[in-house]
Amino acid sequence: MSRGESPDGGASPRGTLRDFVAAAEQLQVDGLALIKGASSANSLDEVRTTLVGRKQGRLTDLMKGLPALPPEERRDAGAALNRVKTALEEALDAQAAVVASSARADGPRVDLSMPSRMQYTGAKHPVTLVIEEIVEIFRMLGFTVAAGPEAETDWYNFTALNFPPNHPAMDAHDTIYLADDVVLRTHTSPVQIRTLQEYKPPVRVVIPGNVYRLDPFDASHAPMFAQIEGLSVDEGVSFVDLKATLSHFANEFFGATKTRFRPSYFPFTEPSAEMDVECRLCKGAGCAACKGTGWMEILGAGMVHPNVLTASGVDSERYTGWAFGMGPARIALQRYGIPDIRLLYDSDVRFLEQLAR
Ligand code: DAH
Repeated sequence: MSRGESPDGGASPRGTLRDFVAAAEQLQVDGLALIKGASSANSLDEVRTTLVGRKQGRLTDLMKGLPALPPEERRDAGAALNRVKTALEEALDAQAAVVASSARADGPRVDLSMPSRMQYTGAKHPVTLVIEEIVEIFRMLGFTVAAGPEAETDWYNFTALNFPPNHPAMDAHDTIYLADDVVLRTHTSPVQIRTLQEYKPPVRVVIPGNVYRLDPFDASHAPMFAQIEGLSVDEGVSFVDLKATLSHFANEFFGATKTRFRPSYFPFTEPSAEMDVECRLCKGAGCAACKGTGWMEILGAGMVHPNVLTASGVDSERYTGWAFGMGPARIALQRYGIPDIRLLYDSDVRFLEQLAR
């Protein structure tokens, strides 16, 4: 240890300029290493106090040695101290910025105490819910699901279904024609033909799908709507099967309910019927929704006409069948007490979210 150096590297009161500058340079080397090693705001604060703290920092200690130097050397010694001070302070500030930015990167990125933002989740449309429920009831009875095209030929949509020539349904006022003999199907019944062409009896299918008619858009009509077709063909199938199955369906879907069958007419069934359920809204008393009758018509049905079986390539001497067609939108109105069918097509979230599941 040379004269003028204290054991801790600081300058002694009786040091020379050389010792003094060497001590200052040593402080800068030590200090920069300490600063680099400070990885948190707290430890950097401590290092700052140790190095440049006003009361007992190492720089202050060195400064206290200045008066012991010969007066002509004090200026150079002071300049050396200032250079060290500047270097240390710059390094302290730079490290402070590094520490702050890494604290931001490591810290929690989300404030878990913040209330969450409202999330919209998708939900099924009420008509979709009704279709799924109906299909499920028939699935339990051994029916499978079939589908067919929405752009359909004249033959499948009308001819094979035993429509007499010039039936009003074939009129351009009622039906949307894409070409001379191609229509947007007016019902799901053509899929009866397609199914029977493809599968041999016994056949039991339900056929959900969209259909199109040149109908006005009003409280109870829409130019596009969903239907569910049903078809059961086998040996020995009778009207008893039709009635029993559809009554079972009504009780499953609506809960124990009164049903009634009224005679009707469709070209593709003989005999034909329409099924009503007691109005859910007024319990049979009569209200605006059921037009005062106490009954709501939910489907058309009947025994499949032999001409339809023949057109599909099925032996109508050996096999018989029954079929139905219903409108799930109308059924949704009943189920949910909706007064206007257009609400189902508006896609207004304020309406739909009341029924969302
Ligand atoms: N296709 C008929 C319609 O759209 C509904 C219908 C009635 C379908 C009786 C059937 C049925 O299968 O047997 O109005």
